[in-house]
Amino acid sequence: MKQKVDLNDDVKIKAGVVGWPIGHSLSPRLHTYWLKKHDISASYEAFAIRPEDLGDFLKNAQQQNIIGLNLTVPHKEIAFPYLAHVDDLAQKIGAVNTVMIKDGEYSGTNTDAYGFLANLKENAPAWTAKNGPVVIIGAGGAGRAAIVSLLDDGVDHICLINRTKTRAEKLVAELSNYYPAKKLFVADWENRSDVLSGAALLVNTTTLGMKGQRELDISLGKLPEKAVVYDIVYNPLETLLLAQAKMRGNAVVDGLGMLLYQAAPAFEKWFGQKVEVDQNLRDHVLEGLRQ
Ligand code: ATR
Repeated sequence: MKQKVDLNDDVKIKAGVVGWPIGHSLSPRLHTYWLKKHDISASYEAFAIRPEDLGDFLKNAQQQNIIGLNLTVPHKEIAFPYLAHVDDLAQKIGAVNTVMIKDGEYSGTNTDAYGFLANLKENAPAWTAKNGPVVIIGAGGAGRAAIVSLLDDGVDHICLINRTKTRAEKLVAELSNYYPAKKLFVADWENRSDVLSGAALLVNTTTLGMKGQRELDISLGKLPEKAVVYDIVYNPLETLLLAQAKMRGNAVVDGLGMLLYQAAPAFEKWFGQKVEVDQNLRDHVLEGLRQ
């Protein structure tokens, strides 16, 4: 759903990211870069909204000239009742991260799956879905988007590990309905180092390793040398997991590109302008990370 932005419009249109807490979101920096680059007369702001206020906020968004929103923690999974239309991809993932508001109608989609895969393909070009089994750590919102993107790309075999095993089992049960021919397994958290033998890709989708959080404690001894290790954490850019993987010669992918690539299709949907993820943007966002 594209909409053309009227640059001569007197009223300044807005987009933004909604979260609680919203903290130091990099999304305003990222979208403002594109707005300036393409000379679009609009703003992108961060809105700190409590989960219980999300409904009222969305209801009033159109009156505030908001044409699009990104949703982040904890809103991605609870926004469904406020949206008239949620596309199949977001339904399958169970999370909406992008809302389009047009003529009073609110619709939702998910661009995290695209962002996850585009980043992987750019930074590990030798990886393909046919390389072999994938091990995913984490069954939260980000894990769900990662798994759906990999299954849609042709991965046939995924082993999912989550501290809370029941959450992983629930996710596998749900996704098995959508992908009956795929091999989806759950392994115990305690066995996370053992299931790595034979894996072609290992992904961390948990918050472990993030600045201020504990490290992901895992031994890579059994991981094949040609496997790719992908951490969706981007602060720090090189987590302990990636440093360990690099030391033993595995190709690694950090999480910054996922943030950049998930933003591009959202921007395009709201402002009708195609945008690029390039080194200048990456440097600009990295500078924000250091502030
Ligand atoms: P997001 O939407 O970013 O994925 P989330 O839905 O809160 O956020 O999921 C966070 C993930 O990090 C979950 O997989 C969570 O595991 P649980 O389901 O067991 O909570 C994982 N996680 C967070 N802190 C963790 C910790 N200390 N040890 C292991 N896993 C952790």
